[in-house]
Amino acid sequence: MGDNRRMPPGNNALRVGVVGCGAFGRNHARVYRDLEADPSQNVQFAGVADLDFDRAQAIAKEFGTQAFRSLDELVAAGINAASVAVPTVSHLSGARQLIESGVDVLIEKPLAATVAEADELIELAQRHGRVAQAGHLERFNPAVRATVPLLTQPMFFEVHRLSVFTPRSLDVDVILDLMIHDLDVVLSFVKSPVKEIRAVGLPILSQKIDIANVRMEFESGCVANFTASRVSTERIRKLRFFQPHQYVSLDYSRQDVLVLTVEEPRSDAADLDPFNPGSVAASAFAGITPFKPKVEQQEPLRAELSSFLRAVRERSTPEVTLEDGRRALAVAIEIVDAIAEHSHRAKLMELTRE
Ligand SMILES: NC(=O)c1ccc[n+]([C@@H]2O[C@H](COP(=O)([O-])OP(=O)(O)OC[C@H]3O[C@@H](n4cnc5c(N)ncnc54)[C@H](O)[C@@H]3O)[C@@H](O)[C@H]2O)c1
Repeated sequence: MGDNRRMPPGNNALRVGVVGCGAFGRNHARVYRDLEADPSQNVQFAGVADLDFDRAQAIAKEFGTQAFRSLDELVAAGINAASVAVPTVSHLSGARQLIESGVDVLIEKPLAATVAEADELIELAQRHGRVAQAGHLERFNPAVRATVPLLTQPMFFEVHRLSVFTPRSLDVDVILDLMIHDLDVVLSFVKSPVKEIRAVGLPILSQKIDIANVRMEFESGCVANFTASRVSTERIRKLRFFQPHQYVSLDYSRQDVLVLTVEEPRSDAADLDPFNPGSVAASAFAGITPFKPKVEQQEPLRAELSSFLRAVRERSTPEVTLEDGRRALAVAIEIVDAIAEHSHRAKLMELTRE
């Protein structure tokens, strides 16, 4: 990757900024403020920019940094890296400006509004030798991290992400808003191309799809069922999967993982009577070992931004690449199209992506 030529001379602190001071940009600002306070990170929180200057000023005041009226002004203040937390439709224009100015970027999810835009981002980052990360936060969830070493041959996933209704992110449907988190995680677990998608989804409280269920089959034969809702009465964020002799249950919110491993069946198991609980059959099914891997609780956003800054410093490939972001986006868009097609077939309301 390219050199880090914007590093201030004689001072190796990374100067970071946030573009977009909305609901999520505020979280980036909070975490950069915390990283700045940690001497081991050697970070300087240089500022925030928003088209709405009042917002930028409020966030700057809250987190002790400078407010800028535009991205140009933030870049002119001299930054090495920035989070792009503007609405998705503006990811490409914002990130392009930063990349062309020699700034490394972390671009919030979904990476872009279209696959063509995602391709343009990938090309731009390559051409300018910039470190560019896609903001798929759940990859940094400690429960997801603890699950990665457990993966053998996942064959069946059941994933639920349910949240209560809030009037935000209603410009996109629940697939690009919520389900995309799980799509990225499952795609990173199942290293096989998607073969088939079947999907159903409905607008409930907004004009966009608020609830969706997807059945995805991979070339490997693995099947994943995803349910995402933003009109639920409860909050659930769980991913469960089966692989040979093993069941793994991951709770994103609680940041914990439970693994149940079934021991190899007894050689005489076939002769046993499973319908007689008193028989020796019971012991044939008793060989289930529960295991809870150690999960160090941590805020995923802090882990994500620390990892991004490490890649910036080391000029290395980020843990979640723009190609990963593109892959999740492409599948999400395929799902939205499959839902529109199902809706048409079922003579439900016609759905459009715009
Ligand atoms: N990783 C996650 O879990 C997660 C959660 C929520 C949102 N997000 C993503 O973060 C991004 C922002 O979402 P949000 O909910 O904070 O949106 P938001 O609408 O609350 O805030 C966006 C902000 O960007 C500003 N803005 C718009 N265009 C701009 C431009 N060209 N230059 C500077 N500022 C500009 C707006 O004035 C606004 O303050 C979206 O891509 C969204 O998908 C990610």
